[in-house]
Order: sequence, then C-alpha cells, then structure tokens
Amino acid sequence: MDRMDLERIIRQEIINSLFQTQEFLVVGNWKMNKTKQEVIEFLNKISGYDFGQKNTVVVAPPNPYLYLFEEKLRYTKVLYGVQNFYPEEKGAFTGEISLAMARDFGCKYAIVGHSERRTIFMECDEFTSRKVEFCIKNSIKPILCIGENLKQRKEEDYKQFLVNQIKEGLSLIGENELSNIIIAYEPIWAIGTGETATPEQVEETHMFIRKFLIDHFGSEIGKEIPLLYGGSVKPSNVKELALAESVSGFLIGGASLNAQSFIEINDILNGK
Ligand code: PGA
Repeated sequence: MDRMDLERIIRQEIINSLFQTQEFLVVGNWKMNKTKQEVIEFLNKISGYDFGQKNTVVVAPPNPYLYLFEEKLRYTKVLYGVQNFYPEEKGAFTGEISLAMARDFGCKYAIVGHSERRTIFMECDEFTSRKVEFCIKNSIKPILCIGENLKQRKEEDYKQFLVNQIKEGLSLIGENELSNIIIAYEPIWAIGTGETATPEQVEETHMFIRKFLIDHFGSEIGKEIPLLYGGSVKPSNVKELALAESVSGFLIGGASLNAQSFIEINDILNGK
C-alpha cells in the first residue's frame, strides 16, 4: 500500500466517523413517477431497512400512493409528505388536495415552492408564502425550495434573488414558527440535469444563506434552520456534498426513485 492509498483510507475513516454523529435530513422527491407495483416494491425494500437513529428520512410520493405509505411505514422511522397541496381548508378547488387530507394519511412534510411548481405551474412568491403559512397552521413542516436559473447565475445578482425568495416565502409566518421550517437550495441548472453544483459552489451559497438567516432572524434561530441541497444528488457525489459547510441534508429527485440508491445515500450519511 503506498502513501496515497493510506491517506485515502485515513480520510475515509475520518469522514465516516464524522458522519456517524452528524445529523442529516434526507428527503426523496418522487415527482410524477412510479406505478403502484413499483411503489409496493420500493416500500417493501425500505420498510425493513435500518436507517439508524440520527438522520431524518422523508419521502414525498405522488398523492395516490400515500395510503400505501401509511400502511407500510407505520412502524418504521421513515416519514413522508406531499409534493403539493392547495392552501385552503376545503372547497371548490377541482383537482387539488388539502393539508388536512395529507395529515389524514400521516404526512408530516410538504415541499413548497419547488422550481417545477414555480416555472411550470406559475406559482409565485406570494402564493408560495401562503402555502408556507398554511403548512405551519396545519402542523406540517414546509420544505421551502429556492434556487436560481442559469441565466440568473451568470448574469444577475443571484444571491440577492435567493434572499428575496426566502424573505417572500417566509413573509407570512411569525418568528416563533421558524423552528418548523426547512429551506432547500436547489439551483435550477442542477435539477434533473445530471450536472451537480460542485461542493465548493454549494458551500459558498449555503454559507451565504446561513449568514443571511443569522443576520435576519438572529443567531439562535438562524443557525438551526435546516438547509438542504438539491440537484442531481446521487450516491457518487453525496459524500463530498455533505462535507460542504452548512449543508444539513438533501432533497433528492431521480436517485430517490431507486430503493437501492436511496439506501446507499442514507448509508453514506450514516458513515457506513
Ligand atoms: P434531481 O431532483 O435530484 O433529480 O436533480 C431534485 C429535485 O428536483 O428536488
């Protein structure tokens, strides 16, 4: 074994022991994917799996499959949530579901302001803030997604854009409710493209966001708000991304669809 090998092994050991204590939040966003049979197979694989105690593991499936999650994950540590809902109690909103319905099936989280909602369904900051507020009222943890597109990254003050998305998204909730929110930074250019932001880019943006949260909301709350990274996260890059400063976990699309890669990601984040 040469010196390089030895250094690599030692580095690996250090990272593993670090990850054995650091807490991560790992959220799978299935988007509009999977058949009923595929969902059952996925749930059978993960329901018997030991995800350990320290990390929080969440999956957001398409709504029609929530009953399977309720059935199969009841006695497990895996939590689940919705990808979308309408911010009203009930009523004439054809095609929508309410958070009361999501809660009925045991949901604890909701993804809000995902770039696909913003760009394909034209959901604006104002609507996103109502959804965040509605989550809090319904005891559901909102995962507020923010992120710039490539043009903004190259040509504009994208950091100011991110700050505005956070300010707007959280504009309707009180300070004592901030402990229930989660922010996910997802650069649009890295979502579903296979092009991940580098650990350096993630670290730079996350540290900037963290500083903003501390300056804006005070250090006690600002330090605690979980800050996820999302965009082409997979088993092969999650370790380096998890080492980036201020990364509290991940929002994972494509790689969360496969039980094996989802488990692999979680194993890495458990220092296994
Ligand atoms: P991706 O999606 O991991 O497939 O890039 C992430 C997301 O959209 O949440």
